[in-house]
Amino acid sequence: MPDRTHRDFLAIPDFSAAELEALFLLAERMRRGEYTRKPLEGKTLAMIFMKASTRTRVSFEVGTFQLGGHALFLSPRDVQLGRGEPIADTARVLSRYVDGIMIRTFAHQDVEELAKFSSVPVINGPTDLLHPCQILADILTIRQHLGTVEGKKVAWIGDGNNMANSWINAAYRLGFELTLACPEGYEPADHLLARAREHTKVTITRDPREAIAGAHVVNTDVWASMGQEDEQKKRERDFAGYTVNAAMMERAAADAIFLHCLPAHRGEEVTAGVIDGPQSRVWDEAENRLHIQKAIMAVLMGGETLA
Ligand code: CP
Ligand code: NVA
Repeated sequence: MPDRTHRDFLAIPDFSAAELEALFLLAERMRRGEYTRKPLEGKTLAMIFMKASTRTRVSFEVGTFQLGGHALFLSPRDVQLGRGEPIADTARVLSRYVDGIMIRTFAHQDVEELAKFSSVPVINGPTDLLHPCQILADILTIRQHLGTVEGKKVAWIGDGNNMANSWINAAYRLGFELTLACPEGYEPADHLLARAREHTKVTITRDPREAIAGAHVVNTDVWASMGQEDEQKKRERDFAGYTVNAAMMERAAADAIFLHCLPAHRGEEVTAGVIDGPQSRVWDEAENRLHIQKAIMAVLMGGETLA
């Protein structure tokens, strides 16, 4: 069996609350330009993308380079995984060459399988179930603009997808209040919800205006995620009334910020007025992907500690 002395990052609860705090502080040092070490010198990150990506691909590739390492972009068109080579075999082979594997794919079990058979750290970026790197970048953005996520009310408006599930995992670990407004049939994962509710207040409602009332952070995402493109028309009908617009933002706290992981569909889940308006922090949010992922890689692959 593979060496299990390394750590993976498949889900936010893979880190304790104290470790997450240390990770945010490290990412913030990186953002301020205070971190000059090159912990990935001579090391390689394999990046497997079974779906398209702009932010994840570029931020991981640039981040690896900035830490002194090298990143390899692997798409299903180029590697044997795309022709059906087993994930377990891919994991064992890549582990002989590289020092870490980042993967974007569909089934979460595939990432768990990759991690099980890999003897180097595996980073989830994302699966259909979870998008943990994005939500850590989102919390870094909240810290940047609101000081802390502690005591803040976070509203999720839209699909109970990989983003929503990772918000639930973040609330479970960090204990802030989370309200999700999801149409019937688009609820987040029950098992994640049940676990989080043992630790903090997580509410599900059908009414986006109720979720947004008094929120400090308003967050949404596309109605049809990657792999669900053929459901676009049905989802447009089912998500009617869930567009985050100026009238909805007025119900949030006066200093509320708007977040969106991007890519966005203006006029669907959010109006141009909101995403391009004064409360939007989406460009800082995209930038923070770079800083938090560098911190994750420095810890998982570069020997940096979270003391
Ligand atoms: N937010 C995000 O993960 O963007 P990409 O799909 O462009 O990587
Ligand atoms: N929920 C979206 C996130 C994209 C970054 C998707 O999975 O397509």
